[in-house]
Amino acid sequence: MSLQDFCHQLNQLAEEASSAFSNATEIEELEAARIEFLGAKNGRLKSVQKLMGTVPKEEKPKAGQTLNQVKTSIQDGFEEAKTRLVSDGSESGVDPTFDATLPGLGRRLGRLHPISQTINELTDIMGRLGFSLAVGPEIEDEHHNFNSLNIPNDHPARDTLENFYLVPESERTKQLLLRSQTSTVQVRVMDATPPPIRIISLGRVYRPDTADATHYPMFHQMEGLMVDQAVTMADLKSTLRMFATSYLGDEVSIRFRPSFFPFTEPSVEVDFYWNGQWMEFGGAGMVDPNVLRSVGYDPEEVTGFAFGLGVERLCMRRYGILDIRDLFTNDVRFLRQF
Ligand code: PHE
Repeated sequence: MSLQDFCHQLNQLAEEASSAFSNATEIEELEAARIEFLGAKNGRLKSVQKLMGTVPKEEKPKAGQTLNQVKTSIQDGFEEAKTRLVSDGSESGVDPTFDATLPGLGRRLGRLHPISQTINELTDIMGRLGFSLAVGPEIEDEHHNFNSLNIPNDHPARDTLENFYLVPESERTKQLLLRSQTSTVQVRVMDATPPPIRIISLGRVYRPDTADATHYPMFHQMEGLMVDQAVTMADLKSTLRMFATSYLGDEVSIRFRPSFFPFTEPSVEVDFYWNGQWMEFGGAGMVDPNVLRSVGYDPEEVTGFAFGLGVERLCMRRYGILDIRDLFTNDVRFLRQF
């Protein structure tokens, strides 16, 4: 074979390789073209190279030189095409197998605990009825938890078995306990503010109840207090009814049962109808004149109502939760449902 024919074949091959590489649109296609032209065993360049033996001896150096040039240019053409395909495939140009159309890994969002959600909603509803939020400490003294609420010294509500007292009797100058009711906040607000008053207080209270489906040693109460001229039991009932229909829906039935609390007179238990039965949600009544007097109010001038409702029960009633303990086990599979 003449040098001319040999070079002609090489150039032909170089042209074909160059268009095969630049036409490739997939990395697999490019790889197939690489094997076709540059394959170490049966590549087309290899076949042409074999023809070099038939080129006349004195022209061999020139033939070898052309062969090397063509080989380099085919290899360069391949590298160029590879760079083009890889950087098309992903921005960083790193991973040609990356598929931007595959669905991503979802990030699970956190959310508020159902009790926090309930508290926010109760605050909203009562806010629309004109009640603002008041807060008080969870560690209380006897004065606020009992004395000022007209609870006598020998009342069973003060029993050590009914409360979490914080300091042993022998060491205390002032008896401290975890508050057993949010009624403490009534006193704190009235002590600090002259009437009229319209507040709610939402927070934790503590009683050494054994945990069962309806009791837990820690739970939340929503306390309400309204004091003004000529506030009556009718205001109490209509406020609670408005609250209950806002939170639980128009079909809710509410019932007052005569009861006794030292700090209200008359007193009632507040029941909502649930699951085919009446269920107690809290207590309420007209603020006892003794309580009004203890904060320096004149019971001849102002009257008031107060109520305390169990937040967990409201939340459970709303969402159909049957066991209070589920709220505090902190199993996210449960909590995620609300
Ligand atoms: N503090 C009472 C309780 O925890 C509920 C209550 C609040 C009753 C306000 C009357 C008025 O049982």
